[in-house]
Amino acid sequence: MSETPFPEPKTLKERKSIIASAAEGTRTVQNEEIDGKKYHWEETPLLTHIRNREQLTTSDKIFGTFDATFRDVIPEEYSDIKQYIESVLAPKKGQAIGIELRGTASRLFGEFSPGFFQRTLGVNLTDYRDRIDPLLEAQDVSRNHHVLVGNIVSDETKMKVQEEFLHGQKADIIFERMIAGHSNLPKEPDFLGKQIGFWYEHLSENGVMFLTPPTALWDFIPGWLDIINTQYTDQIEAQYSDDTTEVLRIRKLPGAPEHLPLIDNRNLLREKKSQVLTRRNNTIDAKK
Ligand SMILES: C[S@@+](CC[C@H](N)C(=O)[O-])C[C@H]1O[C@@H](n2cnc3c(N)ncnc32)[C@H](O)[C@@H]1O
Repeated sequence: MSETPFPEPKTLKERKSIIASAAEGTRTVQNEEIDGKKYHWEETPLLTHIRNREQLTTSDKIFGTFDATFRDVIPEEYSDIKQYIESVLAPKKGQAIGIELRGTASRLFGEFSPGFFQRTLGVNLTDYRDRIDPLLEAQDVSRNHHVLVGNIVSDETKMKVQEEFLHGQKADIIFERMIAGHSNLPKEPDFLGKQIGFWYEHLSENGVMFLTPPTALWDFIPGWLDIINTQYTDQIEAQYSDDTTEVLRIRKLPGAPEHLPLIDNRNLLREKKSQVLTRRNNTIDAKK
């Protein structure tokens, strides 16, 4: 297995120990009560009963369902995330392939219309389904849902997804809903952008990705959106919201470039410098 860049922490030993404690932490996670509602950090359901997006609270968006988290990047004409996905992927019904990165995804895929997906996968540091509901695993077998245990930024896990699950095909939907769970990732914008690029390459034509981008990417997203929305208008659909939590939807349209256009390293540095300067000037102005 080749090394993935991991500037923070630097050594392989430190990195392994962070991943091991993240895996352990995942297994011990409990229900939490926030604003009088029960939430669980793992195995988040797909849908919320709240239809009107204005009524979704901050807690709903952060701790609630996939629908609540991503409602701000679903085109207005769709009532919820399930309706959106099953409409845009309608020609793939019965053949669709779905993946969740950093989640076991039993509840998530279990809430789509039966038979909509041909097969689905959750990739996670641990498989904790037995702790959540002892029936989940058996239901998953009947739905052709699989769980792969692994670190998603490692080459080994990516290769397993390609060889053992995709078998040369591409995914029609890819979810990554991390909320506060990005802490074991490198805080390196170039590396993080390339991770998204890798999964974009494994997305089918008309396929969709829903992402909660890591904090280290937030400053660069507006500049990247400008590039996509001006130079790739009819090829890539990108919708972003930073209203409550940062969420992104990317749809690969027919004729889209094979590789996701990313801000290159030199421009990332240039942009970072100009952001630092702007912030510094704003602070100086505020003090005057
Ligand atoms: C906040 S939970 C979210 C789980 C699920 N996506 C959801 O929305 O319900 C974060 C999950 O990401 C997993 N995770 C964190 N880092 C990971 C990594 N590098 N590779 C695979 N899974 C990872 C953890 O094990 C944990 O289950």
